[in-house]
Amino acid sequence: MAKSRVVASLDIGSSKIRTVVGLLEEGSSVVNIIGVGIAPSTGLRKGSVIDVEETINSIISSLEDAERMAGEPINHVFLGIGGNKIASLNSKGVIAVSNTEHEISEDDVDRVLEAAQALTIPSNRRILRIIPKTFTVDEQKGVKYPVGMTGVRLEVETHIVTGFEPVIKNLEKCVLQSGVDIDDTIPACLAPGEAVLSKRQKELGVVVVDIGCGGTSVSVFEDGSTLHTAIIPVGGENVTNDIAIGLRTSIDTAEKVKIEYGSVIPEDVNDRETIDLSLISKIDTHLISKRVLVEIIQARYHEIFVLVKDELAKINRDGMLPAGVLITGAAAKIPGVIDLARETLNLPTQIGFPQNYDGVVDKIDDPSYATVIGLLIWGSRFEGRHHAGLKSINLKKGLGAISNWFKKLIP
Ligand SMILES: Nc1ncnc2c1ncn2[C@@H]1O[C@H](COP(=O)(O)OP(=O)(O)OP(=O)(O)O)[C@@H](O)[C@H]1O
Ligand SMILES: [Mg+2]
Repeated sequence: MAKSRVVASLDIGSSKIRTVVGLLEEGSSVVNIIGVGIAPSTGLRKGSVIDVEETINSIISSLEDAERMAGEPINHVFLGIGGNKIASLNSKGVIAVSNTEHEISEDDVDRVLEAAQALTIPSNRRILRIIPKTFTVDEQKGVKYPVGMTGVRLEVETHIVTGFEPVIKNLEKCVLQSGVDIDDTIPACLAPGEAVLSKRQKELGVVVVDIGCGGTSVSVFEDGSTLHTAIIPVGGENVTNDIAIGLRTSIDTAEKVKIEYGSVIPEDVNDRETIDLSLISKIDTHLISKRVLVEIIQARYHEIFVLVKDELAKINRDGMLPAGVLITGAAAKIPGVIDLARETLNLPTQIGFPQNYDGVVDKIDDPSYATVIGLLIWGSRFEGRHHAGLKSINLKKGLGAISNWFKKLIP
C-alpha cells in the first residue's frame, strides 16, 4: 500500500479561522480531506493580531476541531494570511544567459526571478510570492517555461505579492505558540483559485472574487497562471455595518437579519413587507422594512463589484474574461449575488465551490472553504518539501524552490 502523510492548512480570516486536514499519498498530488475545523476569529482585527492570547486560543480551537474529525494530530500547517496588509505589484527582470552553449538552466530562471525582485520594496514588507507570468527568450515572447531552450537574453514578467512584515510575524508567532510548525506562509488571495478553478478556466481567462468579512480579494488567471491579484478593503462586515446604521440596530442584530432575510434583489421584495426584529433579537424589537434592508445590502455588494470591475479595467480585462467570474467566501452566500455580479461585471458568473480534492466531508462543499482548501492543494504540490518555512525567509535560498514550484504549476 502506498504511504500517505498528513497535511493541513490554516486560513486565518478576519471573521473565522478555518483548518482542513488531508492525507496525501506518496506520488499523488490529489489530497484526500479527512477533517475540518472552524472557530471564530477573536483576538484579530482586519487580519492583524490585537490580542495574542485570544488569537492563540482561537487557532487552537480550530486545529482541535479538525484533529477530532480527522483522528490525526496536526503538526504543521500551510498558513494563509489575508487582509489589507497584503499588496501586489508587477515587475520585470532581465539577465544574460550564463552558459556558453546558451542553453537556459534552472539557475538562469532563479537569477532572472531574483533580478525581477531587485526593486525597491520597503524593508517592512516581506515578499511572499514571486509569480512568473511569462518569459521572453531573445525575441520570442510568451514562453511559459524556458529551461532547456537556447537564447542569449532571458526576460521575465512577474507578479509579486508582499505582506506587511510586523503583521505576518505576529500571526506566525501565534500559530507557532499554538503548537504547530509552519510549512509555508501563503497570501490567502492566491488560494481560492486553486480550489475552485479547472485548468481550462485558468487557460481561458477567469477571475475569482472572494468576499470575506474585512475585505474582498480578486485574482485573475490567464494562460494557465496568475495574471493579477488585488485586495479591496470592503467586505461582508461593511454590509453589516451599513444595516446597523441604516436601520438603527445593534451589529449582532444586523448580522443576523442579513443572514436570515438578506438578498441583493430589491425588485423581488414587496414594498410593504416588514421584519419583526424581536423574532431574532432581545435588544432590537422594532419593525423594519424588508425592501429597505435589501436595498442597503444591494448597494454595498454593487459597490464591491464596481471595485472589482475597476481592478479588471486596470489590466484591460473588464468584461473580457471568457471563463467569467467565480465568487467565493462566506459572503458569496447572499441570495441573488450571481445576478448582481453578472449584471455589474458583464461576465458569466457562478459561485465557486471547492473541487480539486478527494474526500467526503460535506461541510466543505461551500464557497467559504475555497481559501483553506486552496491553501492545502497549493501546499500539497510541494510533496512534503518544507522549502519555504519560517527559516527560509532568506529569499535567495527560496528561489530554487520557486522555480521547482513553478514547474509544477505548468499545465
Ligand atoms: N449566508 C450568508 N449570507 C450573507 N453573508 C454571509 C453569510 N454567511 C456569512 N456571511 C458573511 O460573510 C462574511 C465572512 O466571510 P468569510 O468567513 O469568508 O470571511 P473570513 O475568511 O473570516 O474573512 P476575510 O477573508 O475577510 O479575512 C461575514 O461578513 C458574514 O456576515
Ligand atoms: Mg477569507
